[in-house]
Amino acid sequence: MTIFITGANGFLGQHLSLYLATKGFEVIASGRGDCKIPPKETFIYRPLELTNKLEVDEMLNAVKPAIIIHTAAMSKPDECDSNREQCLLNNVTASMYLIEAANAVGAKVIYVSTDFVFGEGGPHKEEDQPAPLNFYGESKLMAEQLVEASAKQYAIMRPVFIYGEVWEGIRPTFLHWVRNNLLQGRPIKVVSDQQRTPTYVMDLCKGIEAIINRNATGIFHLAGNEILSPYQMAIKVADVLSLDSNLIESVTAATFSEPVTRAKQSGLAIDKAKNELGYEPLSFEEGVRLTFGLY
Ligand SMILES: NC(=O)c1ccc[n+]([C@@H]2O[C@H](COP(=O)([O-])OP(=O)(O)OC[C@H]3O[C@@H](n4cnc5c(N)ncnc54)[C@H](OP(=O)(O)O)[C@@H]3O)[C@@H](O)[C@H]2O)c1
Repeated sequence: MTIFITGANGFLGQHLSLYLATKGFEVIASGRGDCKIPPKETFIYRPLELTNKLEVDEMLNAVKPAIIIHTAAMSKPDECDSNREQCLLNNVTASMYLIEAANAVGAKVIYVSTDFVFGEGGPHKEEDQPAPLNFYGESKLMAEQLVEASAKQYAIMRPVFIYGEVWEGIRPTFLHWVRNNLLQGRPIKVVSDQQRTPTYVMDLCKGIEAIINRNATGIFHLAGNEILSPYQMAIKVADVLSLDSNLIESVTAATFSEPVTRAKQSGLAIDKAKNELGYEPLSFEEGVRLTFGLY
């Protein structure tokens, strides 16, 4: 089965391209510019700018994938807020081009959305009413709505606060920022009044694999099992790596003047994915251990 992945130079896209290639799928990984994934001969890489409709049509016509996994997005809420036109172009218009091309070649679209489509009151279930608090969340919700209205075959998955292993050419995660500061003996302030259900990237890859293998359709929340604040996550990193947790100061979100609003009580409930996909994420501690190569 040929699987076409967008955003393959991004954090999830890199992990997913490598993971699915080891599972026997023919993976065509696409991203902006040159390939940033560590050299492997298990998949093919194709540069693709998703805001160019002609390029998207030509690429999908040539590849004719059975499945398209759309991870590409302008994914930083602050950037989306200050560059709204670019955000709409990359997150909504590009998704529309991709859906049209997918329909033309009979491909199923698996769209990677986010918990940011919701406001307060998490952990949210799939059927809860979306109410984004910032422009990034609005753009991702618009793309979800396009997928639901226009894609002939689709699944939508929503992860939360993704973390996992990093390598050269991949952006570090919050956990790496914590580790690096503690290693240098630098004190850090971390927010304790926001709740998330952090998602280990390999759990996410396995959840997507289950969506493919079971030909699942509809919306699935693929997150971790535990509700944690960034402060609690940072303390766990210190514990697992035997670093000095006294360097971590618990602060409220009001300490930082952030340009966009983020939910205090977010996170996603994963019962549907457990029941229908056999999704069983690792504990946060296990995810942290694997992130830092402690097996
Ligand atoms: N990271 C999280 O905690 C998290 C949580 C929930 C949901 N998500 C969602 O999960 C998905 C993957 O997130 P991520 O953390 O892997 O994001 P990421 O590291 O920012 O990767 C996104 C990739 O998409 C590419 N891209 C954006 N617009 C494009 C375009 N027009 N044409 C081609 N490529 C384009 C980017 O290329 P450039 O680098 O060249 O810009 C980047 O490589 C996103 O859809 C995000 O909304 C992420």
